[in-house]
Amino acid sequence: MSDGGTFLITGATGQVAPATIALLAKRGDALLLTGRNEERLAELERTYGEPGRIETFAADVTTEQGAVGAAEAAVSRLGRLDGLIHMVGGFGAGPVFMTRVEEYDRLLRVNFLSAVCATQAVLPHLDGGGRLVFFGSPLASEPLAALGGYAAGKAALTAWMRSLSHEVKHRGIHANAVIMTMADTPQARQERSHVDFDHAVTPDLVARVVAFLTGEGADGLYGSLVPVMGKFGFSSALAGPPPRKAG
Ligand SMILES: NC(=O)c1ccc[n+]([C@@H]2O[C@H](COP(=O)([O-])OP(=O)(O)OC[C@H]3O[C@@H](n4cnc5c(N)ncnc54)[C@H](OP(=O)(O)O)[C@@H]3O)[C@@H](O)[C@H]2O)c1
Repeated sequence: MSDGGTFLITGATGQVAPATIALLAKRGDALLLTGRNEERLAELERTYGEPGRIETFAADVTTEQGAVGAAEAAVSRLGRLDGLIHMVGGFGAGPVFMTRVEEYDRLLRVNFLSAVCATQAVLPHLDGGGRLVFFGSPLASEPLAALGGYAAGKAALTAWMRSLSHEVKHRGIHANAVIMTMADTPQARQERSHVDFDHAVTPDLVARVVAFLTGEGADGLYGSLVPVMGKFGFSSALAGPPPRKAG
């Protein structure tokens, strides 16, 4: 066992997670890393695995059963649980008239209902308080064209998280969300070669905010949406240039 916190990281197989795993592991936390992709879990096990401190576990936390299994595995393998870092998410774009209802179902399940399942599974184990960290998008409050399904999934997530935070704060449980723009990852650079990644955020910058939200520095935060936007900004043809000095 470590002296740090003990966290379940769901969606640990994703693009943003490795920097967070590395930073929390260095801090001395104990971590159960979950995802469905067993090949990726095996890589994480090889890189970070340490029996009883950093372990991997295959689970689909978009289902209640998968989420309960992940939370129980965290407690049985690591001895206790202090919180959840919920990195499961999924993107999808397309205009309304070309997007099937099944795609809306997928986006709501992966971005919103997965958080409900994971949180319901973890809460019974947080007797001594805890930390819950979710991942939203600025598109939830600025929903651009053809991104309605994704924006709705993230908007549902953040509205629900803020409601949840009121329910659990008196138990010493802090629920907060990182609101991040596009991550600068090798996969994103490959898929979007036309994009200026100076406007993106690195997974390392995100990891530092997750470390903050899972540490005492965030003792005063309940239901916060913490923007980690790097130099990103929505541009608009209506916006003029920055103001200049007179004369
Ligand atoms: N990357 C970005 O630019 C960006 C921007 C804004 C917000 N975010 C949010 O930040 C979080 C982390 O981002 P990320 O880029 O690391 O995410 P990601 O790589 O796209 O996905 C994270 C994990 O979610 C799981 N997942 C995806 N679809 C699923 C499904 N239908 N059912 C169950 N699990 C599914 C996958 O794990 P398995 O396949 O192993 O189960 C995947 O490894 C996500 O919530 C994301 O929405 C990311």
